[in-house]
Amino acid sequence: MAFVVCYLLAFAFFNYAEAQQLQSNISRGSALTPTTNSSWLSRSGMYAFGFYKQGNGFAVGIVVAAVPQKTVVWTADRDGGLVSDNATLFFTSDGIALQSTKGRSLVVQSPMPISSASMLDSGNFVLYNASREIVWQSFQYPTDTLLPTQPLLAGKEVRSAKSETDHSSGIFRLAMQVDGNLVQYPVDTPPVSQYAYYASLPYLAGSNVSLNFGVDGRLYLLNDTGENLMNITNGGLPIRGKSHLVRIDADGILRLYSYDLKQKGNWSIIWESSTNRCDPKGICGVNSYCVTMGAAIDCKCLPGFESVNPGNQTSGCERNSSVGDVCRSKNWNCNYTMQELGSTAWYDEPYVVLPSSGKEDCKQACLEDLNCLAAVFNGSRCRKQRLPLRYGRREEDTSHVIFLKEVVMSSAAPAPDAVVPKGSRKNGRIVFLIVGVSFTALGSILLVISVIVLWKHNVWAYKRMNELNGDAERNEDVVPRPYAYEELEKMTTNFNEEVGRGASGTVYKGVIENSQKLVAVKRLEKVAAEGDKEFQTEMRIIGRTHHRNLVRLLGYCLDGPKKLLVYEYMSNGSLADILFTPERKPYWEERMGIARNIARGFLYLHEECDTQIIHCDIKPQNILMDEYMCPKISDFGLAKLLQPEQTRTTTGIRGTKGYVAPEWHRKMPITVKADVYSFGIVLLEILCCRRNVDWSLPHDEAILDELVYHYFESGELRKLVGDENIDRKQLEKVVKVGLLCIQDEPSLRPSMKKVLLMLEGIVEIPVPPSPNSFLNTI
Ligand SMILES: *[C@@H]1O[C@H](CO)[C@@H](O)[C@H](O)[C@H]1NC(C)=O
Ligand SMILES: *[C@@H]1O[C@H](CO)[C@@H](O)[C@H](O)[C@H]1NC(C)=O
Ligand SMILES: *[C@@H]1O[C@H](CO)[C@@H](O)[C@H](O)[C@H]1NC(C)=O
Ligand SMILES: *[C@@H]1O[C@H](CO)[C@@H](O)[C@H](O)[C@H]1NC(C)=O
Ligand SMILES: *[C@@H]1O[C@H](CO)[C@@H](O)[C@H](O)[C@H]1NC(C)=O
Ligand SMILES: *[C@@H]1O[C@H](CO)[C@@H](O)[C@H](O)[C@H]1NC(C)=O
Ligand SMILES: *[C@@H]1O[C@H](CO)[C@@H](O)[C@H](O)[C@H]1NC(C)=O
Ligand SMILES: *[C@@H]1O[C@H](CO)[C@@H](O)[C@H](O)[C@H]1NC(C)=O
Ligand SMILES: *[C@@H]1O[C@H](CO)[C@@H](O)[C@H](O)[C@H]1NC(C)=O
Ligand SMILES: *[C@@H]1O[C@H](CO)[C@@H](O)[C@H](O)[C@H]1NC(C)=O
Ligand SMILES: *[C@@H]1O[C@H](CO)[C@@H](O)[C@H](O)[C@H]1NC(C)=O
Ligand SMILES: *[C@@H]1O[C@H](CO)[C@@H](O)[C@H](O)[C@H]1NC(C)=O
Repeated sequence: MAFVVCYLLAFAFFNYAEAQQLQSNISRGSALTPTTNSSWLSRSGMYAFGFYKQGNGFAVGIVVAAVPQKTVVWTADRDGGLVSDNATLFFTSDGIALQSTKGRSLVVQSPMPISSASMLDSGNFVLYNASREIVWQSFQYPTDTLLPTQPLLAGKEVRSAKSETDHSSGIFRLAMQVDGNLVQYPVDTPPVSQYAYYASLPYLAGSNVSLNFGVDGRLYLLNDTGENLMNITNGGLPIRGKSHLVRIDADGILRLYSYDLKQKGNWSIIWESSTNRCDPKGICGVNSYCVTMGAAIDCKCLPGFESVNPGNQTSGCERNSSVGDVCRSKNWNCNYTMQELGSTAWYDEPYVVLPSSGKEDCKQACLEDLNCLAAVFNGSRCRKQRLPLRYGRREEDTSHVIFLKEVVMSSAAPAPDAVVPKGSRKNGRIVFLIVGVSFTALGSILLVISVIVLWKHNVWAYKRMNELNGDAERNEDVVPRPYAYEELEKMTTNFNEEVGRGASGTVYKGVIENSQKLVAVKRLEKVAAEGDKEFQTEMRIIGRTHHRNLVRLLGYCLDGPKKLLVYEYMSNGSLADILFTPERKPYWEERMGIARNIARGFLYLHEECDTQIIHCDIKPQNILMDEYMCPKISDFGLAKLLQPEQTRTTTGIRGTKGYVAPEWHRKMPITVKADVYSFGIVLLEILCCRRNVDWSLPHDEAILDELVYHYFESGELRKLVGDENIDRKQLEKVVKVGLLCIQDEPSLRPSMKKVLLMLEGIVEIPVPPSPNSFLNTI
């Protein structure tokens, strides 16, 4: 039997070798087909470029020709699909072209005309121009494998294959980050530590660090000046008769392999980034946790959940019954219980972390919070989570406990203002399975009613409801959500529709494909060189703010230096557009409504949200109008992230000229009162529908705040509003509030809360002194 196997292997190898051209100098006119001349060998026959077999088709790439397994080390256009055996590969002056039933495409595209190519003995496939200069090389575009002498340069990454036999893109990546760290993450996650499952260095090591792979199997990091920062593997492996490669495997682990060319056999593992196969985050799908079983792993569903696609670990699990979700979305009266699961650790992002509390308190806190579907207690902290849960694994010796909210029993009678707080209402049809109701008279009546409801709608929509609620859950899921740069490119069709431009960046219109929801994508320019972590923290703070007068941040993208934000789209432009366009000018009452709403937004930012947020750049351009002409404040929370000069005008001052509080000039500490000042200026602009500074007017009218105080003193306020018929008292009220807000001395300005009460006419408004009287007296 063994003989037969050997014979077959040898025969296969022989056949394969015959189908190759021993040609390391490939020139124009050369062609390959999967069946006859299938590849170009390197001089020693170690590597081959050309067709290799995958499943029932063929792909184009580089294989280790000298090993019987024909190990694939590189693939051209790895996600381009397979071709059948009548495809042809041509060497053209533009690169390597593939002709197949799908048409003709360049699988290797050269940046300039080429005249020859070579499969080198290092495993590097290179293209030369007429002066024999290398103009393209496969070593610069690694897929999942690195070969000795092949570096992974700063900013580049390799991505795992889908499986051992399918070389298209999988779900893990190894990134040589520009911060000098070599890190492994699941794909489609931002490069921040919470998603990382392997990192080379705990510190930053400069901006141009590369991963290098010595011929003796040593993996090491070099910095810009060629200094060895650290050895990841020791190297010192025998070179003669051996072949080495390092690969991020389909299971997410980076491994260094060695192959004995004389003994044949299998590749042996010399080193791996992790010995626990549950380490790679995302190896198990959502709502499941990873359990090691010897050398293999298993993904187990959370209690009450079942696998979406048994046999596919990454497909995850979903709740078997959506009764709980129905209670939630229909605002029905349901009782909940918490199911407990110990010995598992969860690394997903919570939406709230409660400070130290006991296990029981944690359970109770989640039970009382409608948004909380699970709580993880780690021995000291309580993390409230939404679903789905990710990155779970069994850890026998952990003190982590997870609680999952479940419905015990429900009554079919809707309770409009039940103990359960209002959840998101859905318009799905109601079909309800009554669980555990005994057949008392009442129970029977309820059952009859339910049956009638079922009959009327004529839909047994149990499954459908499940889906509906699944959607609702996903929509509620972690906002703001991280986006990949490519996703945003697609959403905005390559950033082709610019809808605004400001100091912090340019805004583009986009659309979320599956919901057709419009979004505004802001590309931040010159974000301060603070760490990604800080950026993330800020995003989370912004993401936690919810108020009807704030523009909602839906997501963000962190892709090296590229930082983008995704906001809900505001269809009516900015307050500046409507105030300063005579045809769009709103009536007095509408304007006052707008002013009060803006004040409400700032009151929330200053006093009501978790973390106090000072806006620092309030102006009509930053206040957007939704479809109902309700104002929403945008760009809050960005002040901390931008480089100082970005928000400074030519006068070297943060914020926008004309709206800036005087304390900026005096280098005094900045408080929420700086925002109150800017709000005061905006209020005067809303009042008069003109810009605060307008040099096209006569000199003594150019500065609005000075003009307003002048007319206030002289009792000629009516001059401010032209022929608009406005109640004198109303006008005076708003002018007084505006003048109080723009006092030079911050402590003389009212708080935003006071401002709102004054605008609503609830409290008396004192007579404002001259805005700069305080300065004049000292
Ligand atoms: C490779 O082929 C090109 C074109 O046929 C020829 O000009 C060149 O000299 C060859 N180089 C080597 C090293 O054989
Ligand atoms: C394979 O390539 C060689 C050299 O280019 C050529 O002479 C030969 O005819 C090719 N064989 C087939 C079957 O196309
Ligand atoms: C190539 O093969 C595919 C499937 O094997 C077949 O459908 C197609 O017609 C073939 N094309 C040519 C040009 O022979
Ligand atoms: C070949 O490439 C090198 C380096 O890019 C360039 O300097 C040279 O001019 C190119 N030669 C030709 C003939 O294009
Ligand atoms: C980074 O270092 C590599 C060699 O280590 C060098 O080729 C490259 O030019 C450097 N890049 C920058 C931007 O300094
Ligand atoms: C490279 O590393 C060495 C040693 O750690 C250090 O002295 C040098 O400044 C680093 N070079 C750069 C450009 O960071
Ligand atoms: C890495 O290994 C090489 C060879 O064993 C050794 O010379 C060098 O000092 C090591 N470098 C570091 C930073 O450990
Ligand atoms: C090589 O691996 C295969 C399966 O992975 C195994 O069946 C075989 O015994 C191994 N051969 C050697 C020589 O280790
Ligand atoms: C497993 O499920 C995931 C997510 O649903 C999917 O992307 C992937 O293609 C599936 N894998 C296989 C081998 O079917
Ligand atoms: C899930 O529901 C099915 C019926 O829809 C039931 O047969 C199965 O036992 C349930 N599984 C669990 C884990 O509750
Ligand atoms: C539901 O909760 C209420 C209030 O705590 C309790 O009176 C009632 O007995 C509970 N019903 C069930 C079936 O547990
Ligand atoms: C629990 O988590 C907090 C931070 O989330 C951490 O500081 C603390 O050490 C953890 N406690 C345990 C026992 O793991």
